[in-house]
Amino acid sequence: MAPRSLVAGNWKMNGVKSSVSELEALIQMVNDGDKADCDVLICPPATLVDRFVGVADGSLVNIGAQDCHTNTSGAHTGDIAANMVADLGAGYIIVGHSERRADHGETSDLVNNKAEAVLTENLTAIICVGETEAERKAGDTLKVVVADQLANSVPESATPENTIIAYEPVWAIGTGLTPTVDDVAEVHTAIRAALVERFGDGVGNGFAILYGGSVKPTNAKELMAADNVNGALVGGASLKATDFNGIIDAYR
Ligand code: PGA
Repeated sequence: MAPRSLVAGNWKMNGVKSSVSELEALIQMVNDGDKADCDVLICPPATLVDRFVGVADGSLVNIGAQDCHTNTSGAHTGDIAANMVADLGAGYIIVGHSERRADHGETSDLVNNKAEAVLTENLTAIICVGETEAERKAGDTLKVVVADQLANSVPESATPENTIIAYEPVWAIGTGLTPTVDDVAEVHTAIRAALVERFGDGVGNGFAILYGGSVKPTNAKELMAADNVNGALVGGASLKATDFNGIIDAYR
């Protein structure tokens, strides 16, 4: 089955209680505007997930979290478990974002275990991969992204129903720089080929593969039209409802 596209917003460490007004504005645009041919997701900081799930209930906007621990409970100060996110009624958890890999030394093996924890709770895992600027300059993009990160971060139990891949070149995140459409298509097509090789034709072709890194209303349509791009993972431009809705326009 062809992947269902997703436009996902990652709020990162932004947002307080009053930010719910942006979510309310977005819900209004998504629910009352022209119907978009994609799913819509907002992943606020953990402190807001409960509140956002309540506000988004019954709307076309889904709510998720940005990270989880591999365990279900225990002595892990400051961490949250996938079952806690499930308990709030959120449906998705991002794992392996490059900021987690860089700031917290997360390895692909750890990301694989986190994704497994997400799937165990019947939530959808958004597994992030992406090369640094130095790796791209060295010509190592496909080696790092596909042969290393994708192969090691995606658990055996992944299916198109429970797992989404997000390709986010580290050098494009928050910088205003984006790869060319051809470069995006090249990496996404290599990710697709690796998923088909590992999971077989039917299953491998079913995974949604998101592009992330400086997606804006002005470049979304072009990027979303690239081969094997099935949506976007958006940071900065997801914080304002009008900007995020302008990206969703790529699917209207
Ligand atoms: P950006 O972030 O859209 O601000 O570049 C993307 C991401 O990190 O998911």
